[in-house]
Amino acid sequence: MRIRVFPSDRDAAAALAHEIAAAIRAKPDLVLGLPTGRTPVLLYRELAALEKRGEADFARVTTFTLDEFLGLGSDHPGSYRQYMQRHLFGKIHVAPERTHFLNGAAPDPPAECERYEAAIEAAGGIDLQILGLGTNGHIGFNEPGDTLVARTHRVTLRPETRRANASLFDGHGDAVPHEALSMGMATILHARAIILLATGRGKAACVEGMVHGPLTPRLPASFLQTPREVEVFLDEAAAERLRKEKPFTSSSNFQ
Ligand code: GLP
Repeated sequence: MRIRVFPSDRDAAAALAHEIAAAIRAKPDLVLGLPTGRTPVLLYRELAALEKRGEADFARVTTFTLDEFLGLGSDHPGSYRQYMQRHLFGKIHVAPERTHFLNGAAPDPPAECERYEAAIEAAGGIDLQILGLGTNGHIGFNEPGDTLVARTHRVTLRPETRRANASLFDGHGDAVPHEALSMGMATILHARAIILLATGRGKAACVEGMVHGPLTPRLPASFLQTPREVEVFLDEAAAERLRKEKPFTSSSNFQ
């Protein structure tokens, strides 16, 4: 796991946007896994700015959004599909047929999860999976628990996760669905490369567990210690509980 610490959330987002743009230049038909949440908003703004300046070309890129609330149609303003439209896809030139979403309103959720797994497979697997970090250590909607689910599945959201998503529903935590569909842990961990972005002091304890703690389903992000190609982009606030074995400055690395 390679850790990169930046002075601010803007710096971390900008650096990650450049990294994604470079990955697209290296492989123009990149298959990209994408997260939602407050954290990637700055990242998506940067990516749109890079495209505008001709430094990122999404024309041949394929995307898979990590998760979706169960029961919400694709036009519901609280859906992650609409989030992605607002923050990224409405601002860049990406082929709509290559942007993939879980359908929260699918009549048969298990079949929808199988369809998503098959679509990822058919695309050749995910080249670069971008992740956020839930305040309880979840990635996607893989919530802490006794066990983790390997593949795309239906999940019951924990109260803290529903609260954290209230802003998508005009601040009404009660309006946040109780269930969701999410890529599974193996779906995520099988990506050829993974970059997690976490910013703010509220993530510092989870970041510490993710980097230095034991592998535990109580902190799903801790499993990111297992794949070879994992990078973690942090601002200084999110990194404040990490052991600084080596001194670091802006964007220097330590294990
Ligand atoms: C949601 C998403 C996650 C995301 C998390 C963090 O629960 N399902 O994929 O990483 O929020 O959100 P934030 O960036 O707002 O802290």
